[in-house]
Amino acid sequence: MRLISFWGLLAATSLASAGRHHLPPRNYTTHDYYAIHVASSTSPAELAAHLGLDHDGPLGTLCDFHLFKAPKHANDIVEDARQELRRRRRKREIGLEYHPLDSIKFTQKQKLKPRHWKRSVIPTLSGRAGVEESEAVKTQREIASTLKINDPIFEEQWHIFNVQDRGNDVNVTDVWLQGITGKDVTACIVDDGLDMDSEDLKDNFFAAGSYDFNDHVELPKPRLSDDRHGTRCAGEVAAGRNNACGVGIAYDAKISGVRILSGEITDVDEALALNYGLEVNDLYSCSWGPPDDGKTMQAPGILIKQALVDAVQKGRDGKGAIYVFAAGNGAAADDNCNFDGYTNSIYSITVGAIDKQNLHPYYSEACSAQLAVTYSSGSGDSIHTTDVGANKCTSSHGGTSAAGPIAVGIYALALQARPDLTWRDMQWITVMSAVPFDQPSDWTKTAIGRTFSHQFGYGKLDAYAVVETAKTWKNVKPQAWFFSPWMHVKTPIPEGDEGLASEFEVTADMLKEANLETVEHITLTMNVEHERRGDLSVELISPAGVTSHLSTARRDDDAAVGYVDWTFMSVAHFGEKGIGKWTVIVKDTIKDNGKTGVFTDWKLRLWGECIDASKQKPLPLPTQHDDDDHDVIDGHPAHTTTVSVPSSTPKPPVNPSDVPNRPINQKPSPSPNPASTESASSSPSSAPENFLPSPFPTFGVSKRTQIWIYGSIGLILVFCASLATYLFLARRKRLRSSRDNYEFEMLDDADDDEGGARAGMLSGTAGGRRKGRAKRGGELYDAFAGESDDDLLSESDGEEGPYRDQEDREYDEKQAMEDDSDAGESSGSASSGPKRQ
Ligand SMILES: *[C@@H]1O[C@H](CO)[C@@H](O)[C@H](O)[C@H]1NC(C)=O
Ligand SMILES: *[C@@H]1O[C@H](CO)[C@@H](O)[C@H](O)[C@H]1NC(C)=O
Repeated sequence: MRLISFWGLLAATSLASAGRHHLPPRNYTTHDYYAIHVASSTSPAELAAHLGLDHDGPLGTLCDFHLFKAPKHANDIVEDARQELRRRRRKREIGLEYHPLDSIKFTQKQKLKPRHWKRSVIPTLSGRAGVEESEAVKTQREIASTLKINDPIFEEQWHIFNVQDRGNDVNVTDVWLQGITGKDVTACIVDDGLDMDSEDLKDNFFAAGSYDFNDHVELPKPRLSDDRHGTRCAGEVAAGRNNACGVGIAYDAKISGVRILSGEITDVDEALALNYGLEVNDLYSCSWGPPDDGKTMQAPGILIKQALVDAVQKGRDGKGAIYVFAAGNGAAADDNCNFDGYTNSIYSITVGAIDKQNLHPYYSEACSAQLAVTYSSGSGDSIHTTDVGANKCTSSHGGTSAAGPIAVGIYALALQARPDLTWRDMQWITVMSAVPFDQPSDWTKTAIGRTFSHQFGYGKLDAYAVVETAKTWKNVKPQAWFFSPWMHVKTPIPEGDEGLASEFEVTADMLKEANLETVEHITLTMNVEHERRGDLSVELISPAGVTSHLSTARRDDDAAVGYVDWTFMSVAHFGEKGIGKWTVIVKDTIKDNGKTGVFTDWKLRLWGECIDASKQKPLPLPTQHDDDDHDVIDGHPAHTTTVSVPSSTPKPPVNPSDVPNRPINQKPSPSPNPASTESASSSPSSAPENFLPSPFPTFGVSKRTQIWIYGSIGLILVFCASLATYLFLARRKRLRSSRDNYEFEMLDDADDDEGGARAGMLSGTAGGRRKGRAKRGGELYDAFAGESDDDLLSESDGEEGPYRDQEDREYDEKQAMEDDSDAGESSGSASSGPKRQ
């Protein structure tokens, strides 16, 4: 069954050479570490000798990246040396001939960053009534006896088999009865440790895929008093069939552990951790992320992004590692998983939570990047699974942290059935098999007739449906992509109910040229300057009339920075053709607070299945310069019109009984025909509604028409005229600067393949780009390149999320527990209301 492609072979070879090589353990108390991308023609040892560094070794799977160290020192030795070289070249003290420092393509001194948040909340204690001998209990016992499951808390594991509310579980037992239990699949729990001595986990524990990046030792043993999270997640995936606690969803799978959450780590360690053991680990379970406080906006650094791309290209013999991220627990604080660069990565499957009543738990974040939901805490119960200790169980594992690993278990079953599924096949299978359910939400029919909600993704995971869909799944062709030029808007955003719309028309020729047949993910990178970020919301309407709420207003987000090269993602457009007008609408939802802003620019990226597999190359690794082409006006006419749109009144919630119950094994038609997209776009049931606090104008289909009707023709003309003027001026500026011979540099930015001469471009993180862009153009490589470099680096240094330390986190968890009891009560009363039938 396992197909080994050409890329697979290549990947296998390069992985084998990366081998099981271990870097020496880091010690951040005594040493500084530098991640350096060295030109392959240069020996790292030579570079190390030149800089007075020690060469520790190659950096995981990333080609030509190496780790160097030096005794602790306040300065950045590598950057200082490069600046000195630039200074001397400026002064003509030395010439432009090759210098070892020219071989540096990227350098980053590692700094410890605050920890990620674990995504568990301490839920209310179980108020379960004793289980009476019902038919359901009898069935459950029969299944247990057939499968020889004697685990003492199996009957408490309602998420596996719910005897109280039949159907409110992951529907997995018939999959097990087919002998599909996760055999030959390995899931890696990236967390705070994994108790490999637990009787419930020790038989499935896989040391070769495990490492501790906090204490830099081989085994990820939980060492701190609150290192329980990873063990609990591991139990959900693959607790064994034995006499301890319960069973995991894939109880015959192997589990490895990578420990990163029990201390501060650096980008290098996180990058190494996220694809650790790529040759042996198939899935990575990540129940953590940036703070879920409703005001953080944080994406992984460039090394981590590269590690993810590398893993989907080289992992699993080229089929790609499967990443699952917990959506986040900040919903009560208006948080949204599109403000988290891990959950909104196209390489991760983002999974949110529902509780045992199928209700939305107060904590589970919504966003357009969420693919599906599964069971976790709420309505008075939580997930029952393994805990740290020889034979210790917990009945209080919860939050989206507990939902993610259940999804990982289900995907492990799918991989046993179909080891040849790619990372994108797994996302497609989720889209096609997740089950919409009877809860009011913004359920909307997508272009291919699936049902999507920002709160629940494509619905809840049904293990049986996932595995059945997987069994007959036809692998998708390789990934292709189309990038629009930057759309320059540069227009103030009206406050209040109005919005600012800008559109870009994708033509059939553009997609043909891009070899792109069917859209899967869309990402939209944008810049908005605003005095209060939390006021903003962003919607994207596809040519098929499907609306993605890319960003939503956040009451606590007072940051006065707007969006700086931030990339939003949506999975709501899976299966669309992508041809036609894509309209982005930015709103400043709070009227009269005096905080205003300007929509600067945006760039649309469509990712999906290619037309001709033989022509398709894999995506180059991302670089820190991928968004540096803001001011390039390229050959495409920029189809930007800007109009004010009035909002429509939010419609009442969709009646859940109107939600079409889709056949779950339906395959995507490889090319949804125009008629079907047309009917989707005219479907009146696609009404966004009330899960978000601020009035959320519905830009369904009728809305689309409204935009153009309401927007006065006069306004359009005025904007077109000013746009034309702007474009004219921009082009002139562009031509002028190209006369200064900088054109080559601009066009070449994305490649980042030149040596030291390009040093001025090192901006490191997105936070540093604004200044970089302000200075970009003719003056970029002038005598002050080194200085602007400083600015960029120090600005990105100052960019920090409001991470919390251990004590604060414990405090907040208590806080969360209190909040939870409140929410538990209110959702309890909701469940006794008219929703349950
Ligand atoms: C780092 O080195 C210091 C000083 O030698 C030592 O005390 C400490 O335990 C080391 N830390 C680690 C994580 O090895
Ligand atoms: C659950 O699995 C059964 C087979 O065991 C299947 O018939 C059914 O469609 C699945 N889904 C639901 C929601 O019951």
